[in-house]
Amino acid sequence: MSVNDDPNAQQREFWRNADVWVQEQERLDAQLGHIGLAAMETVEGLPTEANVLDVGCGCGQTTLQWSERVGGSVLGLDISETLIDVARRRGAAHVAERSEAAPISFEIADAQTADIAALGAAASGRNGVFDGFDLVFSRFGVMFFADSGAAFANLRAATRPGGQLAFACWQTPRQNPWLITVNKAVLEIVEMPDGGGPSVDPFAFADTDFVRGMLEGAGWSSVAFEPFETEMLYGAGSPLAETARFTMDLGIARRALVGHPPDVHAQALDAVVAALAPFETPRGVVFPAAAWIVTARN
Ligand SMILES: C[S@@+](CC[C@H](N)C(=O)[O-])C[C@H]1O[C@@H](n2cnc3c(N)ncnc32)[C@H](O)[C@@H]1O
Repeated sequence: MSVNDDPNAQQREFWRNADVWVQEQERLDAQLGHIGLAAMETVEGLPTEANVLDVGCGCGQTTLQWSERVGGSVLGLDISETLIDVARRRGAAHVAERSEAAPISFEIADAQTADIAALGAAASGRNGVFDGFDLVFSRFGVMFFADSGAAFANLRAATRPGGQLAFACWQTPRQNPWLITVNKAVLEIVEMPDGGGPSVDPFAFADTDFVRGMLEGAGWSSVAFEPFETEMLYGAGSPLAETARFTMDLGIARRALVGHPPDVHAQALDAVVAALAPFETPRGVVFPAAAWIVTARN
């Protein structure tokens, strides 16, 4: 299979191995939950029987939340089979507990290349008469495509005319010091890992000019950005040392420590604890955080 047939193969590999997103699913959901809810609240005027697509749904918290807000159907789509396995288990438990929730399905698919309308038709139970999603939503799941323009054109093709797009993405690293604080501390102990291998840039959509041009180029209109300046309870209120350990399992810090002996891990942990200490509060480790809530129309 060539890169043209499978442009996000590296992302699939990265997120297939995202065991931390599985093990730490509750902590990550607690950290990000309020930002996802803020993005949901920007969505107005959905029809009663709305069909919603949750892109890059990961372990599915927002997919389940949408199932309680709409009367049509909810499809969670993600490139990672590992995360969709968890989402499916959570979905089954959710439906068993809440009979009034809209039908939920989860599919392993690449948002850039999949025939999403066909997946939506199957999810809605309306094969043949599905005229597209009423809403394409995402909480931090749309910044990682090899070709963002192609992916958002593909998502628009599965959206009904007049349908909505709403997603949360991060503003700049400077406005989100939670990540750089940990990475800097670790990189004082070990070297930056070599390039190569799958990686992700959570700040890829920080620049509104880029995102606006990309979305308009993909055919979306009425593109708008609402700043959501907030805080992040890093580690979801866990004690300092536990939060430090958890944050070192993410991103560059984790890659940088691969292959190093236990004493180096211990030094890095001490460095991260010291770096997080100024942000410790009685509630846990609290950082400023800033997201964009991006909306648009088909
Ligand atoms: C930062 S996580 C966010 C997960 C989830 N939305 C949440 O808030 O917990 C990014 C997600 O995007 C997914 N993803 C990355 N590239 C994708 C693609 N091309 N198609 C579908 N999902 C993708 C990843 O597998 C991962 O689950």
